[in-house]
Amino acid sequence: MQEKEMQTKPVLQVKGLKKYFEKKSMRGRVISSLKAVDDISFDVYPGESFGIVGESGCGKSTTAMMLSGLYSLTDGTITFNGVDISDFSNKAVKEERKKIQMVFQDPAASLNPRMKVRATLMEPFVIQGIKVDESKIDELLEIVGLSAAYKDRYPHELSGGQKQRIGVARALAMDPQVIILDEPTSALDVNVQAQIINLLEQIKEQKNLSYVLISHDLSVVKTVCRRVAVMYLGKIVEQGPVDEIFAAPKHPYTKALFSNIPVLDDEKREKIILEGDVPSPSKIPSGCRFHPRCWKAQEICKNEQPQMRDTGNGCCAACHFVEE
Ligand SMILES: Nc1ncnc2c1ncn2[C@@H]1O[C@H](COP(=O)(O)OP(=O)(O)OP(=O)(O)O)[C@@H](O)[C@H]1O
Ligand code: SF4
Ligand SMILES: [Mg+2]
Repeated sequence: MQEKEMQTKPVLQVKGLKKYFEKKSMRGRVISSLKAVDDISFDVYPGESFGIVGESGCGKSTTAMMLSGLYSLTDGTITFNGVDISDFSNKAVKEERKKIQMVFQDPAASLNPRMKVRATLMEPFVIQGIKVDESKIDELLEIVGLSAAYKDRYPHELSGGQKQRIGVARALAMDPQVIILDEPTSALDVNVQAQIINLLEQIKEQKNLSYVLISHDLSVVKTVCRRVAVMYLGKIVEQGPVDEIFAAPKHPYTKALFSNIPVLDDEKREKIILEGDVPSPSKIPSGCRFHPRCWKAQEICKNEQPQMRDTGNGCCAACHFVEE
């Protein structure tokens, strides 16, 4: 992170964010609780890309859905430009929330097959009761590298990359400050992935946007993001500047996750194979939730949840035995 950016205030502040999916009995008693996101905190600064990584099911998309206002919060706060936007039912909050938009993983599923591109891009304005003419649609298409002729196409007449370009154009319609990108390229062919990443980078620079980039392609996160949070079973276990975390991870889980990236392997890096699957978020292990899979675990790990602590160079990790 550059000094200039660190001196500014965060555009987005997430504190103690939780999402529990609960099943209730006929009498309203909670009979099961799935802790998809369990008390996470991070800041996103103007103009930065903040990465979130972690194995499948660790709560990345659930976090994205809460940030974009598509899921309510079980607990915690989301502050945008200093304004608490946690309560979505509040009218003023709805106004602020327009400035946070989302791009979804599957561009095909996120577009209505019966709507032409024109109608898809008009929709956000119609919902907000804002009158715009065709030139606004042309402008949005131009930003994402498509000609005005694409207005008359249906989604099935577009390639995967073109569909995702429309997804990005739709996210830009409300002139956002923050875009949440949930695996924006994982449904695309490899050569198209790079084009979309380049496009997103260009748009970010042009419009001074901030991104929250969720991806399990760690090389993309390393290239695009300045800072990264590593999630495990609903919690952030380590976060800090990308260069620091990738070069010298301090948390055993991060170490294992990053040791298996072929593109970053420098021969000397020892591969760590984690045993067992990620436990279900409805049966979270006691103490440190990583302990059943951790090769460094000791007795304390079964009983005491480790607190997040400063590990130097802007990084922090939650482990009783952080690597020196
Ligand atoms: N609407 C829901 N109702 C109940 N459980 C849910 C719901 N959405 C997600 N979950 C559960 O919450 C946990 C976290 O899911 P989430 O989709 O956030 O993971 P993820 O990190 O995005 O995984 P992936 O990398 O596979 O996309 C999972 O156990 C999932 O089954
Ligand atoms: S607290 Fe213990 S179990 Fe958890 S990551 Fe650290 S060493 Fe492993
Ligand atoms: Mg997901």
